[in-house]
Amino acid sequence: MGRLRLGVLISGRGSNLQALIDACADPAYPAEIALVVSNVAGVQGLTRAADAGIATAVVDHREYDGRGPFEDALHAALADAGVELVCLAGFMRLLTDGFVARWHDRMINIHPSLLPAFKGLDVQQRAIDAGARFSGCTVHFVRPAMDAGPIIAQAVVPIHGDDDADTLAARILTQEHRLFPLAVRLIAEGRARVVDERVVIDGARAPAGALVNPEPA
Ligand code: GRF
Repeated sequence: MGRLRLGVLISGRGSNLQALIDACADPAYPAEIALVVSNVAGVQGLTRAADAGIATAVVDHREYDGRGPFEDALHAALADAGVELVCLAGFMRLLTDGFVARWHDRMINIHPSLLPAFKGLDVQQRAIDAGARFSGCTVHFVRPAMDAGPIIAQAVVPIHGDDDADTLAARILTQEHRLFPLAVRLIAEGRARVVDERVVIDGARAPAGALVNPEPA
């Protein structure tokens, strides 16, 4: 069976894209990146893709007359490249219900919080301000509502007393780079399926034990 063809959508730095590039460099990994699309020209993620010899496209939302034509161009680029799974990796445009429907159960997003807590932007600062003791990241199938949809995988990190948004974001990002390739692998292997709007993963084990923060004396 061929490798699952990914289309990765970015708007900037592309460190999660890099994690996927690195995973796909292993011939045994069950997915490959067919196309990277950015809605912003000149971003670091495009350089990362080009350096890896991956096809890139810029679909700049400002060049289209509204969201419909922008998304039609996006869809055409992905379809032309034979993309089977769309990976939103720091893609900073909200997508319409129509686009989301076209990629139902074939589009995933990574978000730097433990969803359903802290949807949207500035989530690390909001987790700190809420006094949360843990945060983390989530990979989920995309649904029309922002940062909503069946959860595939999550990673948890502690929040430290002296964290600011940057230190917490860095701790979460390290886990994002593990989690996104893991989630893609589960889908590519046909092990992650949506059943009644929850993801069932064949042969998956949950970790034993629990984390407590602060650590009990
Ligand atoms: C990540 O924190 C991701 O969870 C969020 O946007 C950020 C993108 O970072 N959706 P990068 O461009 O992958 O480095």
